[in-house]
Amino acid sequence: MSTSPRHDDDSAISVPGASASQSSTTQASRARKRSSISPPKSEHSPQLTGWNQLLSANEQAEQNAEGEDAVLQAQNEIDVDSGTDAQSVSDAGYETDSIGTTSTSLASSYRNFAFENGRRYHRFREGAYNFPNDDLEQDREDLKHAMMMHLLHGRYHYAPIGPHPGHVLDIGTGTGIWAIEMGDLYPSAEILGVDLSPIQPEWVPPNVKFMVDDVESPWLKPLNYFDYVHSRHTVMAIRDWPKLMSSVLDHLKPGGWYEMQEIHHIPYCHDGTMPPDHPVSQYWHLITEALAKLNVNFNATLLLEGIMRDSGFVNVHTRIFHVPIGLWPRNKVLKKVGLYWRTVLVDGLEPIALAPLTRGLGWSKEQVEVWLIEVRKAYMDSWVHSHMPLYITCGQKPGPGVHVYRTGEIPPWADVPIVS
Ligand SMILES: C[S@@+](CC[C@H](N)C(=O)[O-])C[C@H]1O[C@@H](n2cnc3c(N)ncnc32)[C@H](O)[C@@H]1O
Repeated sequence: MSTSPRHDDDSAISVPGASASQSSTTQASRARKRSSISPPKSEHSPQLTGWNQLLSANEQAEQNAEGEDAVLQAQNEIDVDSGTDAQSVSDAGYETDSIGTTSTSLASSYRNFAFENGRRYHRFREGAYNFPNDDLEQDREDLKHAMMMHLLHGRYHYAPIGPHPGHVLDIGTGTGIWAIEMGDLYPSAEILGVDLSPIQPEWVPPNVKFMVDDVESPWLKPLNYFDYVHSRHTVMAIRDWPKLMSSVLDHLKPGGWYEMQEIHHIPYCHDGTMPPDHPVSQYWHLITEALAKLNVNFNATLLLEGIMRDSGFVNVHTRIFHVPIGLWPRNKVLKKVGLYWRTVLVDGLEPIALAPLTRGLGWSKEQVEVWLIEVRKAYMDSWVHSHMPLYITCGQKPGPGVHVYRTGEIPPWADVPIVS
């Protein structure tokens, strides 16, 4: 990984005109969409102007209680809404844009990006990542961020990084939304977001930088440099986790933290309402099979804690949350999370399936489209109470003065016991 922030003459990673790749119209419309889906305001996100600001003190308190209950239920068991309220969060207003509005950026777009089956992909290290990076996909990524903020009640991280975290790295930063909001939250920190695609906005807080690079290549940043490294929703991207973890370990300062937030993309069901041959379940198993052909282990979420420990991290601990799919939870926050997550997955049906199935399993685009009709319908089965587990795993680089907690101990910052 290179050392300097992205600019137009970065040689090895040069993406000329990258910053012009989104027109101001597109960026403005995406910024509008972001604010309309902003997460709840909490002590973890003091700078955000959430939708609950206009509420009375009582309404705010009620909403906070619902949000905190959502975090607890998501880690234990989610109550099913059996009343008439079950479908009461409307999904009107979450329609997908049909066409990006960029026109001025078309020329640079063709230089900087690759096109396949009607979708736009990254050009740098072409083919390494099997999902698009066009405006539709970026909107979906930002909705995923909003879902996470609602689920975690506005928490950006669980690692105990203190009020002045210093050098922060966001691996596979995508649209950069987490990095940008972390920059606002920690003005004294320097946040670096790295991605294969130059899709981050130009107007960002002064302490946030973006760089186009491949995190699976050697890193050129100094050893012992970062105070905190973060990666989120990258399980479908990384091929060699032990190698990546050893890069993270080398480049963290002793005592620094690595935090991974990854969803295991297999639907689970706690009450038998989802049959094993349900089309949604079949869809995810097929995507997993296709990604395996492309050397990506889509089940790696389940292995990350062990790999982290084997790589030499200490004080490793994991929290598991359940991300509901659909409107079935009784808790209002989780109902909204379920709506967002189902929207992310339904809007993602084609972009998630297209490259893995065509590149990995040799399907045609038409075969993919026909198969998706049934899966799309199945997502709307309101009697199915399914969820996907979200694993948040943190680990610390050992070093002088770093206290290593014993098996079974619960450190003040962990809430869950250290396993070994
Ligand atoms: C699903 S997106 C997640 C974006 C972001 N982390 C978030 O949570 O909003 C995964 C991102 O990882 C990036 N990526 C995949 N492989 C990468 C690599 N080897 N090096 C850097 N970025 C990579 C992709 O380009 C994509 O933007």
